[in-house]
Amino acid sequence: MPNPTPAAMDPAGEQYLLWFYNRGIWKGMHYRGVRILKAPTDLWNYQEIFAERRIDWVLETGTRHGGSALFFADLLELNGARGRVISIDVDPASNMLRAHPRIEFLVGDSASAEMAQRVRRLLPPERGPLFAILDSDHTKRHVLRELELLVPLLRREDYLVVEDTCVNGHPVRPEFGPGPYEALEEYLATHAGELVADAAREAKFGFTFAPCGYLIKT
Ligand SMILES: C[S@@+](CC[C@H](N)C(=O)[O-])C[C@H]1O[C@@H](n2cnc3c(N)ncnc32)[C@H](O)[C@@H]1O
Repeated sequence: MPNPTPAAMDPAGEQYLLWFYNRGIWKGMHYRGVRILKAPTDLWNYQEIFAERRIDWVLETGTRHGGSALFFADLLELNGARGRVISIDVDPASNMLRAHPRIEFLVGDSASAEMAQRVRRLLPPERGPLFAILDSDHTKRHVLRELELLVPLLRREDYLVVEDTCVNGHPVRPEFGPGPYEALEEYLATHAGELVADAAREAKFGFTFAPCGYLIKT
């Protein structure tokens, strides 16, 4: 990867990631009773990021069961933020949180210009720091398009996580084909200096679903 990160995964952490991922432990995780498809170490990192950076708004692509949207909405509420979670999924069945006052659920393709426009209209000009997390379709083509359309909505010091860069052999699912890692690699090569790696944060717990995927907008 051209820029992102000196934070190669700790070998012991990588072993644990392979165990955790390949056994499908992540598929059985719940937050307040709602399924959430994440590594617990990443969730802990996210809540630290929210507190440290006073995150005010969240943009999530890929709602699925809604556990991550609920987790982020609770953090905003508990931290006294003013904003909401904008969570996007192409599948209307993911919509189980429509009534939540902190969650704005948008149905549609997260890699479309029309969706980027909808998000732009929802973010108030006076907003505080934003946390964006890409966790929808994990093909390279889709993630690259999300990056092209959604990074321009970020401001200096906003936070971006590209989830599941661990697939396609980084180190899980070597058969996957080009995915989020390769999308990020291409994006960074063509947008030098736009995003910097938050390597210490990524490395903090020794394993992550998002290797090289913790980034800050410059
Ligand atoms: C990995 S799951 C999201 C997991 C969730 N963020 C969590 O942590 O619990 C991926 C979701 O992306 C959605 N998705 C797939 N293609 C999409 C697209 N083109 N636009 C928006 N969402 C899409 C799927 O319907 C699925 O619900």
